[in-house]
Amino acid sequence: METHEALISRRSIRRFLPTNVAKEKIEKILAGAAFAPSGHNIQPWHVYVVEGEKKEKITNTIIESIKSGEVKNFKQEFDYYPTEWFEPYISRRRAVGFELYKLLNISRDDYEARDKQMQENFYFFGAPVGMFVTMDRRLAEGTFIDLGMFIQSILVGARGEGLHTCGQVAFTRFHTLISRELNFHENEMLVCAVSIGYEDTSAPENQLRVDKLPFEKFTTFLK
Ligand SMILES: Cc1cc2nc3c(=O)[nH]c(=O)nc-3n(C[C@H](O)[C@H](O)[C@H](O)COP(=O)(O)O)c2cc1C
Repeated sequence: METHEALISRRSIRRFLPTNVAKEKIEKILAGAAFAPSGHNIQPWHVYVVEGEKKEKITNTIIESIKSGEVKNFKQEFDYYPTEWFEPYISRRRAVGFELYKLLNISRDDYEARDKQMQENFYFFGAPVGMFVTMDRRLAEGTFIDLGMFIQSILVGARGEGLHTCGQVAFTRFHTLISRELNFHENEMLVCAVSIGYEDTSAPENQLRVDKLPFEKFTTFLK
């Protein structure tokens, strides 16, 4: 696939087919992502690829913690979002939720249905493969830049293999449970998860097309 096509065909998929993904494809995506740049080439990432029973165990552990209320004790390790939203970001953020729930026929005040849809995150939206990307928390904030580049390489690389993805920060709230399941070392911090598989093209949630700013809106050319 041509690079531009891979870039513009990447979008977040929230319903995957149960179709198995060949291990060679996952390996090829990771082999490509290995070339992501990082400051001083420190390559500060680690990836856990989960499938089958391990993936199911993680899902069940998270869902149980939600049902039991244990989730209330879980604290995020880092802020991905601001505590107070403001424009223009708040409108962009709302637009995604609004469109997604509209496609799923979930009304704004149907908190139960919204919650259920949110929990689909923890079922990896039906994807057969999940990834957890971690870094050493002793590194500096700048390391998040490296991780972002690495993760985007996975997302775009997946397009080259005919696969789709969804980056999922939703998992990070459950880092203590995931850390236990994956045996993180003492300083390992969960940064993001990625669901990966084949798109279910019949799913309404996958009809979501978020607005993207034309580059002229975020670029200043100077001479
Ligand atoms: C780091 C990161 C974390 C994300 N976490 C989630 C998540 O937990 N659940 C989810 O449904 N989407 C998640 N998304 C997807 C975003 O909502 C999505 O990228 C955004 O709406 C733009 O849509 P697009 O990916 O289709 O271009 C995440 C995206 C990124 C980059």
